Amino acid sequence: MLKLGFLASHRGSNMQSIIDACKAGQLAAEPAVVISNNADSGALERARQEGIPARHLSNRSEGSEAAVDEAIANTLAEFEVELVILAGYMKRIGPRTLAEFENRILNIHPCLLPKYGGQGMYGMRVHEAVIAAGDTESGVTIHLVNEEYDKGAILAQQSVAVHEGDTAESLAERVLAVEHSLYADTIARIANGDIKLEGGGS
Ligand code: GRF
Repeated sequence: MLKLGFLASHRGSNMQSIIDACKAGQLAAEPAVVISNNADSGALERARQEGIPARHLSNRSEGSEAAVDEAIANTLAEFEVELVILAGYMKRIGPRTLAEFENRILNIHPCLLPKYGGQGMYGMRVHEAVIAAGDTESGVTIHLVNEEYDKGAILAQQSVAVHEGDTAESLAERVLAVEHSLYADTIARIANGDIKLEGGGS
């Protein structure tokens, strides 16, 4: 069983879909810990409801960005996490955690990278940009995390049609349904060896 550590800032619906897939036996993985910078996040609440260890680690609780990085790396190590899943995590991952989990941190982005990526491009802003550009196609990208926002190697992508009359909200809803299935599916493929991450392990 591949041990998963989640980092999530808000609602946590992607995290929940992966937890549900684990519970349903659809992937050879188990949730080990959930970390959030937001003490009131739905993600921490969901973790508690699922009986998964939940940790609040933020600048406020730890005192500095470097201390948060340290605490995140230590917490992931404490729970023997093998794969780190960013699911709507709004903070930058620090250098220590990046180094200790090189090629072992995944993120989901709600469009087809490299379009509409980079600092400041998240959530509804992405969908608004797709609609404003008049694109007929958007989608979902799962990629590895490195020190640059949204620039790590792409592991999986799935396209989603933009319909005439779509708003950012209606597009976001259609994209989210694909996010939920593609994230769990990609982790399943890592767990069973279909997708090989560089640097050993799976
Ligand atoms: C998702 O749209 C994800 O692509 C983006 O943030 C959103 C998180 O949603 N990175 P949730 O917290 O998983 O419900």
